[in-house]
Amino acid sequence: MKIFLDTANIEDIKKYAAWGIVDGVTTNPSLIAKEGANLEKRTKEIAEIVDGPISAEVISTEAEGMVKEAHVYTKWAPNIYVKIPMTSEGLKAVKVLSAEKISTNVTLVFSLGQALLAAKAGATVVSPFVGRLDDISQDGMALIEEIVQAYSNYDFETGVLVASVRSPRHVHEAAIIGADIATVPPKILEDLVSHELTNKGLKKFLEDWDSVKNKQ
Ligand code: G3P
Repeated sequence: MKIFLDTANIEDIKKYAAWGIVDGVTTNPSLIAKEGANLEKRTKEIAEIVDGPISAEVISTEAEGMVKEAHVYTKWAPNIYVKIPMTSEGLKAVKVLSAEKISTNVTLVFSLGQALLAAKAGATVVSPFVGRLDDISQDGMALIEEIVQAYSNYDFETGVLVASVRSPRHVHEAAIIGADIATVPPKILEDLVSHELTNKGLKKFLEDWDSVKNKQ
């Protein structure tokens, strides 16, 4: 399973890219706004750090405007995935961009029906938001299971990118289900790397070593 970073923070992207496990980055208008960043400048900076797909989201709500923005974004770097909202206008834009071989990430997916339509339009990946479904007492990971199964039934090439990840458990379940990608906020990556027993075990190894090191 690929791991993307879900942030527009440059220091975090540099830090976690150095761990060697970051396959791509997802941003959205809220994440860019949180950083007070310029979309073009920040997207180019991110694309210089990470080789894999970098998602940058369109602002237009009409298909024609989305396609125009996509043409601009894809000039910024060779590895841009144009993030398109899951609307009927978004589907029209994805169909056009797919024919032009421009990679797309259909975002704000909350149902199997939406995921099927996005795949039929030719989306490169879809982003179901699992945390936001959990927030309204629905089962986000059950949706991932349904999409993975349905795409496999019909050999759709569209990838499943698990988004709105709120806990390591979401990442564990995404891997067990067989999702293609999980996009993970920095805090969750920190939670994934550490384990109380690893820390405890390492402390004990070093203490034991200290007691014999002069005899080596
Ligand atoms: O990738 C989508 C993600 O940024 C949304 O996460 O936590 O705002 O629902 P959240």
